[in-house]
Amino acid sequence: MMTRGDEITLSVERFGAEGKSVARVDGFVVFIPGGIPGDTVKARITRVSKNFADAQVLEVLVPSTLRTTPRCAYYGTCGGCSWQHLSYAGQCEFKRQQVADALERIGGFIGTTVLPTLGAENEYYYRNKMEFSFGVRWLTAEEMVRLKEQERPATPADQFALGLHIPRRFDRVLDLRECHLQSLESAAIVNAVRDFAVAKELTIYSTFTHTGYLRNLVIRETRHTDQRMVNIVTSEERPALMDEFRAMLLERFPSTTTIVNNITERKSQVALGDREIVLHGPGWITERIGSRSYRVSANSFFQTNTLQAERLYDAVRQYAALKPHATVFDLYSGTGTIALHVADDAGQVIGVEAVASAVDDARRNAEMHGVTNCRFVLGDLKDRVLDRTAETELQVKPDVVICDPPRAGMHPGVVASIRALAPARIVYVSCNPATQARDLKLLCDEGLYDLRESQPVDMFPHTNHVENVALLTIHGGI
Ligand SMILES: C[S@@+](CC[C@H](N)C(=O)[O-])C[C@H]1O[C@@H](n2cnc3c(N)ncnc32)[C@H](O)[C@@H]1O
Repeated sequence: MMTRGDEITLSVERFGAEGKSVARVDGFVVFIPGGIPGDTVKARITRVSKNFADAQVLEVLVPSTLRTTPRCAYYGTCGGCSWQHLSYAGQCEFKRQQVADALERIGGFIGTTVLPTLGAENEYYYRNKMEFSFGVRWLTAEEMVRLKEQERPATPADQFALGLHIPRRFDRVLDLRECHLQSLESAAIVNAVRDFAVAKELTIYSTFTHTGYLRNLVIRETRHTDQRMVNIVTSEERPALMDEFRAMLLERFPSTTTIVNNITERKSQVALGDREIVLHGPGWITERIGSRSYRVSANSFFQTNTLQAERLYDAVRQYAALKPHATVFDLYSGTGTIALHVADDAGQVIGVEAVASAVDDARRNAEMHGVTNCRFVLGDLKDRVLDRTAETELQVKPDVVICDPPRAGMHPGVVASIRALAPARIVYVSCNPATQARDLKLLCDEGLYDLRESQPVDMFPHTNHVENVALLTIHGGI
């Protein structure tokens, strides 16, 4: 019997759901963050529950051949790139396995072909968007020692942080001075904004007291067009201060093409504004995926890894196998990127999306390219807009449905609507293998569809996240 505090030797067997590594002691599962399959580690048991235990690595006794040295100074504290200690080839293979496991365990699909993960050429500096939080600073052990040595209490500046949330600590932020996910200039902007905020003695919004001013800093950068958006999210409007903010940014970072201030009084921690004030430039940036450019505003969803998005969309296009007169529904269409990527292959494409600004962007994107066979409908798919869209507004049935829902997957009503439409092919793009497997099972219920194949794509190197494209064809179809 294992108890908390025990120190034991463990052999790490595999990665389980959400990238947690798993060892077993007499069949009993022990989750061991930071372990890699093939490692033998000395570990301390930190929690024991009925069906499993959690353990912490104390020492790697025999390293896995897949182990490598993390590049980032914040590795282990930040939680952002928790697979940096795993070789990139290992990451890609474990992502493939994660998809295969979810399909088998949750979806009940045995022996489905899951192709090797399409890995990224740029393992670092790949994100076109980073969302930083203003918050109470997470003091590292060294910082606490330093304060103690200086025999003084922490000042507001010591407690001020702009960076990323500490894992499982929504109330504490790691003050980030560098990050290998976005450009070096992005990190320099974070540091400049922090200096500005501290010098002006600006307050941080608290989700406990709902007071304070600064909430988030969101930086979007393009890969192909050399544009940058800085979006500062605050709890209220302060025009004079924002004039100074804009002047500071443009003086130090003249290549910033647009600056916006989003204002939100929402109590939750989301970097979305209820109102937006454009401080500089057009209020959006333009990025290219494949042969087309897209207009992206502050609150629109846009794939965060531009180069991998191209590969993802190519996989979608290949699975959709469109014929020139085909009607396609692109559900959860965001700024219309998938719709426009496949538009040249199809007769018509109809996108459905719940966020109005994304629909506006999608319509403008189509217009900008002179694409006349794409239409974008504003609507919440959970409200069964698809039924109304099919029966009243559009009077068409799709030959192919492409869907790309958020992590939570599709509402059962949406699955029912798609089944009722009975397209010949469904191409399901997902960033969550578990909800995807659940929805695929529902779509295939009673043998209506067959799951043909699936293609994982690595959009987020050094994390355990995986994007997967699955192809369903109607039973008896091709
Ligand atoms: C994962 S993103 C995909 C966007 C797009 N396909 C792309 O590749 O950029 C999911 C999109 O679904 C939209 N969305 C979320 N829930 C929705 C709903 N219930 N009805 C319609 N759209 C929704 C979000 O606003 C977001 O744009």
